[in-house]
Amino acid sequence: MAERKKIKKIGVLTSGGDAPGMNAAIRAVVRKAIVNGMDVVGIQKGYQGLLAEEFIEMNSRSVSDSVQKGGTILRTARSEEFATEAGRNKAADICRKHKLEAIVVIGGDGSYRGAQSLSSAGIPVMCLPGTIDLDIACTEYTIGFDTAVNTALQAIDKVRDTSSSHERCSIIEVMGRNAGYIALWCGVASGAEDILLPEKYNYDEQEIINHIIESRKVGKTHHLIINAEGIGHSTSMARRIEAATGMETRATILGYMQRGGSPTCKDRYYASMMGAMASDLLSQGAVNRVISYRHGEFVDFDIDEALAMKKEIPESQYEIARALSR
Ligand code: F6P
Repeated sequence: MAERKKIKKIGVLTSGGDAPGMNAAIRAVVRKAIVNGMDVVGIQKGYQGLLAEEFIEMNSRSVSDSVQKGGTILRTARSEEFATEAGRNKAADICRKHKLEAIVVIGGDGSYRGAQSLSSAGIPVMCLPGTIDLDIACTEYTIGFDTAVNTALQAIDKVRDTSSSHERCSIIEVMGRNAGYIALWCGVASGAEDILLPEKYNYDEQEIINHIIESRKVGKTHHLIINAEGIGHSTSMARRIEAATGMETRATILGYMQRGGSPTCKDRYYASMMGAMASDLLSQGAVNRVISYRHGEFVDFDIDEALAMKKEIPESQYEIARALSR
């Protein structure tokens, strides 16, 4: 087998929506790269910052006091220019100009696709799953999900208190783009009466209305509905449900609070392990890999293989969620 070329200088960026734990990942990438004898450049504001050459030299101190912080110290952005072939070729030229031999990309599915096209343009990449949505197929864990669901759950518990006092129905909308993982976990953990997931919802509001009427009959004082962002329309849904059931119904959209805040221990720990693994793999000359967590282990996959994988809400878990909500 041909000997792998030793990588001497890498860039690291965060891309797409920020996620708590990204800083722990950046810190681990930087510190482990330094231990492994590589130089690291921090690329600010994702692919947009790469195109604008917004670079900072990173050392161990650049990532001090960051592990406990939400957001991303490198900032993040979504880039229209990078979505074009010309943009990606320009980005690759910039990497060559700055002697960046590989780029570590911390982000979600869209950022992975960006990384895949950067690798096609000749710049090796290494990806870390950074998204609150948990919607990356090759991994059972994504950086930020644990903090986001715990943040959302705290808010949901509070809405539940006031919902019970007033004997109201509350629809609480959680993030997740087109994926229902945040809604599923928060729905089960909050004891919601209905959990609406984009992957499963049949848009039959009458079913929810009947459920509310039945629940009232058996003495439930409130009715909590966790609605996923991918379904949306919580406010108009609340109006219709109130009109049909006579039960006062309010909608609460949790929004960006779910993306902020100090990361949980799990997010800090997993992000640290994954970041360190990214730098270790690069120092061994492995490229175009994505770091994942599967079956209790941190593993890596080829980026093309990873992006071809599919992920679904496990039917058995959804069935349990429904059974517990009756
Ligand atoms: O992917 C993370 C996420 O927070 C999704 O849950 C949400 O749909 C999206 O980002 C919002 O993106 P933006 O920050 O561009 O509004």
